[in-house]
Amino acid sequence: MFQYPKTIENEVQLDEILSMPDQQLIDFMKRLDGDIAILGIGGKMGPTLGRLAVNAIKAAGVNKTVYGVSRFSNAAARQQLEDWGVKTISCDLMNREAVAQLPDFPNIIYMAGRKFGTGGTENLTWAMNVIVPTIVGERFKNSRITAFSTGCVYPLVGPETCGCTEETPLDPVGEYVQSCLGRERMFGFASQTYGTKVLLYRLNYAIDLRYGVLHDIGKQVWNDEPVTNSVGYFNVIWQGDANKIALLSLEEAASPAVPLNVTGPEIIRTEYIAERFAAIMGKKVTYTQPVSGAKCYLNNAGKAMRLYGYPRVSLDQMIAWQAAWFMQGGRSLGKPTHFEVNDGKF
Ligand SMILES: NC(=O)c1ccc[n+]([C@@H]2O[C@H](COP(=O)([O-])OP(=O)(O)OC[C@H]3O[C@@H](n4cnc5c(N)ncnc54)[C@H](OP(=O)(O)O)[C@@H]3O)[C@@H](O)[C@H]2O)c1
Repeated sequence: MFQYPKTIENEVQLDEILSMPDQQLIDFMKRLDGDIAILGIGGKMGPTLGRLAVNAIKAAGVNKTVYGVSRFSNAAARQQLEDWGVKTISCDLMNREAVAQLPDFPNIIYMAGRKFGTGGTENLTWAMNVIVPTIVGERFKNSRITAFSTGCVYPLVGPETCGCTEETPLDPVGEYVQSCLGRERMFGFASQTYGTKVLLYRLNYAIDLRYGVLHDIGKQVWNDEPVTNSVGYFNVIWQGDANKIALLSLEEAASPAVPLNVTGPEIIRTEYIAERFAAIMGKKVTYTQPVSGAKCYLNNAGKAMRLYGYPRVSLDQMIAWQAAWFMQGGRSLGKPTHFEVNDGKF
């Protein structure tokens, strides 16, 4: 079995580890027909997803192109993708004419979305999360699409429920999450109307050391700030595992659209994580409230684990890597998850 390193020294090593394919993904690339396009590749998860796909294709010895489509507001991210073997195309997906000019892509991972700063810019959030999926669903009606969504489309629940499954009735709280349900509905509409094969990938919290829920809690502990415990429990998954599942899930895409929860196996207590970080870092923890909140976004990913197995990177490993990352002065993206929000106001 592959042994992960005890610590991750720098971002070069981090990106390499995030982009390492395993045999399951390599075998999948041998089966998959056609090229892959990642729409909205320029964010936190897209670049290493593109590189993971390229690496798996190389290891499989097959001939496929991975396209990365984004506005590329970050020009350096575009160059890095090219260096990693992803063919980039600059396109604003809000622009219907520009989307019409894109080549046909048989396989699409749709990642574009808008979350942060929703308050005060609700119109833009709805346009981004609902109009763009409408445009993409029409343009790529003959493609197979895994559309990134969020586990926050489910109701807030307590840990005693073991988390929401794909059968739990949806109950999105607040405008951001309602707009995410709108994104799902537009892909669902394309699937129903045109027979497009769609998978709705409901993710709760990917982790990559530079951002994520463990990052946000670890940063508070490291900086001697009170840990925000308004949300008492959460789930996380290593970004490399989340991206691997995103690719594999193309095979589950169907009409009508199929939902799939994606996260790690644990329901994790906020205070447990804070205490673990404190012990490793030699810190003392305080909290923002005496009793942690019981209303949480909890995603039960039993189906994904039945289909694809358990994630390769364990929670214990993520805790150790994350603590060491802060202690050695590792970089943060400065993009908080806002996992502490339990009233829908992101
Ligand atoms: N990360 C998580 O833990 C998490 C959890 C739940 C759900 N999700 C969802 O999963 C998806 C991927 O996550 P992420 O963290 O990588 O998201 P992200 O950092 O917000 O990245 C999405 C990227 O989409 C691109 N984009 C936005 N508007 C676009 C447009 N009009 N045309 C073309 N590209 C556009 C942007 O890059 P450019 O500036 O280059 O265009 C943006 O960086 C998102 O939809 C997110 O909401 C993520």
